Amino acid sequence: MSLQSVTVVLPTYQEFASLPSLIEALREVRIDELQELHLIIVDDNSNDGTEQLIEELNLDWIRLIVRKEERGLSSAVIRGLQEATTEYCVVMDADGSHPASAIAAMVQAIQDGADFAVGSRYIAGGTTEDGWGVLRWLNSKIATIMARPFTTVLDPMSGFLAFKRSTFTKATDLNPVGYKIGLELIVKCGCVSVKEVPIHFSTRQLGQSKLTLGVQFEYLQHVIRLLRYTHPKFVSFFTFATVGLSGAFVYLLALQLITPLFAATWQGIALSVWIAMTWNFFWDRKYAFWYARTNIVVQYFGFILICSVGATANFFITKSLAESNAIAYSGLIGVIVGSAIGIIFNFLVTRLFVFRK
Ligand code: GDD
Ligand code: MN
Repeated sequence: MSLQSVTVVLPTYQEFASLPSLIEALREVRIDELQELHLIIVDDNSNDGTEQLIEELNLDWIRLIVRKEERGLSSAVIRGLQEATTEYCVVMDADGSHPASAIAAMVQAIQDGADFAVGSRYIAGGTTEDGWGVLRWLNSKIATIMARPFTTVLDPMSGFLAFKRSTFTKATDLNPVGYKIGLELIVKCGCVSVKEVPIHFSTRQLGQSKLTLGVQFEYLQHVIRLLRYTHPKFVSFFTFATVGLSGAFVYLLALQLITPLFAATWQGIALSVWIAMTWNFFWDRKYAFWYARTNIVVQYFGFILICSVGATANFFITKSLAESNAIAYSGLIGVIVGSAIGIIFNFLVTRLFVFRK
């Protein structure tokens, strides 16, 4: 019998049907393994009998928090964790997917030195109950691959988690949007050693899943936010280069449409360059330099000024390379080298002078 004090945080939304058997399983864990186990249920105003159930059970180790204003899995989990006072915290689903019998092993993994433990379907010994459609399986796989830049955990989508409370309080910049609170915690708490404990993931027997299309779109946004957090320079430059490429197409299109309207060619070229720069400015300001939005007018003129230098350099490099007959494909090479230098120059200089934190 271990005397480790553990709080199990259980986010619930309309899980009245599943709760009794889970509470029974937790009661057994308390008797056999973890005497100091507490349960905090964070329910988002389900109005399905959950409140009456907990009231009738009247157990001193169970606490129910009903949130009336907020909704959302991750924010419910964070709320529960904030209320916990024990040394260890565990997070799990209420629908019976996660076996309570694995809790002791997960807490043990933390005691043995891991920063974070996840109940894992994909580590040796872990299994998933049949009945997952091809779509849900594919979905889970793609989502897992998208989490690769942040962790090598085989099942980073898991919502069955264990860690020390002191690890949670270390978190910086926690963002409670989305479903993948485990991934968020691993990244934001700076967890290095993550231990996967094999579990059998059961299909929910009662009630309905809350996974919707909106949740998957939120996951995409979540991954972008995490990338910005862990690899800010890379995201900035990659976005800047992509916007630059789109700007080249805008330029060519503008050139086609506008030049015939002018008497001299240079006027059409100048106007097209300006249109493309303006296009680039708005996307770069929104996505490449998301963190640096100051006065838009000042930023706009600074951007146009700097990018004009970049565009001029690009123009002359392209021209001089294209005119040298010594190299094969000199025209194409000229365009590539000229654009690359232009983009790198514009990125570095606008980052330094226009888009500052
Ligand atoms: N408080 C609260 N508020 N709880 C919620 C909310 C909400 O808005 N939405 C879902 N929950 C609770 C459910 O009641 C359940 O206990 C748990 O969160 C998981 O919800 P499910 O609807 O069963 O999610 P799932 O089965 O699609 O997702 C599970 O598998 C994923 C891995 O494939 C969860 O474990 C995820 O955390 C996990 O990532
Ligand atoms: Mn579920």
